Amino acid sequence: MQIGGVQLVDFRSYRTLQVDPAARLNLLSGPNAQGKTNLLEALGMLVTGRSFRTARVAEVPRWGAETATLSGELVRAEGGSETRRTVRRSIVRGGDGAWSLGGEGAPPWARAIAFGWQDLEIVNGAPGARRNFIDGSAGRLFPTHLATLVRFRQILARRNRVLQAHRADPALAARLEPWNEQLAAVGMELIDRRRKGVASLQTELARVYASLAETRSKVEIRYRTVLGEAAEPAALLGALERSHREERRRGQTLVGPHRDDLAIEIDGADARTFGSRGQQRLVALALRLAEVLPVTEAVGTPPVLLLDDALSELDPRIRGHVLRELAGAEQVFLTTPEPLAVPGAAVYHVNGGGITAA
Ligand SMILES: Nc1ncnc2c1ncn2[C@@H]1O[C@H](COP(=O)(O)OP(=O)(O)OP(=O)(O)O)[C@@H](O)[C@H]1O
Ligand SMILES: [Mg+2]
Repeated sequence: MQIGGVQLVDFRSYRTLQVDPAARLNLLSGPNAQGKTNLLEALGMLVTGRSFRTARVAEVPRWGAETATLSGELVRAEGGSETRRTVRRSIVRGGDGAWSLGGEGAPPWARAIAFGWQDLEIVNGAPGARRNFIDGSAGRLFPTHLATLVRFRQILARRNRVLQAHRADPALAARLEPWNEQLAAVGMELIDRRRKGVASLQTELARVYASLAETRSKVEIRYRTVLGEAAEPAALLGALERSHREERRRGQTLVGPHRDDLAIEIDGADARTFGSRGQQRLVALALRLAEVLPVTEAVGTPPVLLLDDALSELDPRIRGHVLRELAGAEQVFLTTPEPLAVPGAAVYHVNGGGITAA
């Protein structure tokens, strides 16, 4: 898919902006703090209805503005025909002072995959960053995944409340029983989709990484849970029962998808511990790019790629490989603080809230 005819009003540093991006690689270059990431954020929000940068929508409207609006066309080309949908979204302040995002939803095939400096955490950060990565990625493949995640978190919070409030109660196990059933059922559903999501990334990840690094090195990912390969809610139920004493002592739920992780290995060595900084960045980028094919197969059109400063910290040879890989993608937005010449790319200079096509 592609984004066309974008208009922003009072979005971050932009008072008004109109841009008609090219269907292929769009290079957004300009000095620091000029609005490159802001524009990527706007494009992502147009497609997905969420910011990849912040969960607080209040940060997005231009300081002092009453409303922020964004609109654009989402285009899907198949064979000789084209489907076009105009999407309009606005961020407005309600009577209670709270900001909310409204507007028409994008079509079911609209997908954007964003990469930014925070993604290094997928490789070298805490397990939570990897769980977020798997959930985001599974959510692009299975649209109900995020709703399941929300339900799981509600059940988990309630179960933890029971654990904390009744730690000394001899009948604690009986009190937990109804929550155990729910946690096991929804938890296993979550684990199942995460495993499927990880499995669908595997092959592409190995291909993309080998192509970007131009090496025979193999990157592998594996979903890690104490449940091993088990796929039945009964397995999670059993694990909860086995950790009952420890849960009572600590007052929290100790097994389930909220404790799982993703193993990321380069030639069998943990990328978090042994990867060089450049390798870690490249693995993070490869993880995002590995989503392109499975998402394309799932929704029937390639996702838009929003790559924020994806070339930094990479050596010139690897940069070249990244650009070669991107040449095969559909629409791509790539920001860079340095001037960059890429044959065939549309180049825009971003400078202080304005954009000029080069
Ligand atoms: N809600 C807002 N209203 C007005 N300006 C904002 C708002 N949020 C951020 N900004 C401005 O946008 C600027 C950052 O823009 P952005 O993050 O897009 O820069 P960038 O071009 O990506 O820079 P870098 O190369 O450093 O990543 C900040 O310096 C800030 O002044
Ligand atoms: Mg930036």
